Amino acid sequence: MQVRLEKIVVLGTGGTIAGLAGDPAHSRHYVAAQKPVADLLGGVAVPAGSEVLSEQVAQVDSKDIDLAVWQRLLLRCQYWLAQDDVRGVVITHGTDTLEETALLLQSVLAPAKPVVLTCAMRPANAPDADGPRNLADALQVAACVGAQGVIVVCAGQIHAAAEVQKVHTSRLDAFGSGDAGPLGRIGPDGMQLAREWPRCGKAWSAPDVQALAARTAWPRVEVVYSHALASGALVDALLDAEVTRRLGVPPVQGLVVAGTGNGTVHHALHDALQRAAAAGVHVVRATRCAAGGVSSTGEEAFPDSRGLSPAKARVALMLSLLPGQRARRD
Ligand code: SIN
Repeated sequence: MQVRLEKIVVLGTGGTIAGLAGDPAHSRHYVAAQKPVADLLGGVAVPAGSEVLSEQVAQVDSKDIDLAVWQRLLLRCQYWLAQDDVRGVVITHGTDTLEETALLLQSVLAPAKPVVLTCAMRPANAPDADGPRNLADALQVAACVGAQGVIVVCAGQIHAAAEVQKVHTSRLDAFGSGDAGPLGRIGPDGMQLAREWPRCGKAWSAPDVQALAARTAWPRVEVVYSHALASGALVDALLDAEVTRRLGVPPVQGLVVAGTGNGTVHHALHDALQRAAAAGVHVVRATRCAAGGVSSTGEEAFPDSRGLSPAKARVALMLSLLPGQRARRD
C-alpha cells in the first residue's frame, strides 16, 4: 500500500540564509539572497511522513522588501495553504524585516495550518552556517500535528508572530519574544512547547486577500522617533503637500511614534503629532524600549500600539487603514 505523504512547501525569499561569502573563511563579508531555495534544502532532513516542495517567491535582502514581494508571498501562501494535501508552509527569509512579514501574514491569513518563517545569521557557505539547522527545525515544526499560525524558528527557539523581534545584530540567537518568552524550543531532544500555538484569529476572506495583493499602493504609514531635543519638523515635513508632490509619494495616512519609555513623546513632537491628527492622520504610540510595551491610562492623545513594536505597529496601522478595514481598527 502506498502511504500518502503530506506536503510541506518551502517558499524562498532570500536573506542571509541564502547568502554567499566571496571567501567562506571571511564569512562576515557576504551578499544576501544568492542561493536558490531548492539548493538550501540539499542535505536537510525531511520529517517522517512528509514530502518537501520548494518555490522561489523572491530573492532579496529583506531590508529591501517591497510591496510586490509581500503581495506575491501573500498569494503563494494563500494558494498552498488552501491545498488539502499541504500540511504547512515554511518561508526562508532575511532576519532584518522577518518580524514585519510574520505579522503581516498572521494578520491577513491567520492560518489554521503552520506558516513557519526561518532564517540565518551566517551565510550558506560559512563554516558555521546556521541555516541548515534552522531550516530542518522549521520543517519539523511545520510537520508537527496541531501546529498553527505564523511562527518563527531560529537558533532552536520557536516564537509567535505577534511577539517576535530581532534583538541582536550578530548573535545566532538573534530573536526574542520579550516578556512573553519564546513559544517553545526545538533541539536534539525534540520540541518542547511553553505555551499554546498562536490562536488563528479571523483571516481575511480569499477575495480580500486577492484585492490586497492587487492594490498598487497600501496606505502610507511612517515611523517617527521621539528623543531628547526632538522637534516637530520631521512630522511637518512628512505632511507638507509640496514635499509629497515633489517626491511623487502618496500622502501620509498614518504615523507611528516610537516614544520614550512607556510611549511618552517630547512635547514639541507631540504638538506636531496633534497637528497631524487634526489634519486626519492616524497616530499610534509605540515605544523605543525592546520590551514591556506601552500601557495607557486612557488620558493620552493617541492610542497605544497594543504591545507591538514600532515596526510592527506600522504594519498593523497600514492594514487597518485599508478601505473596508475600519472594523478591524476600532
Ligand atoms: C536580510 O535580512 O535579508 C539580511 C540579513 C539577514 O538575513 O540576517
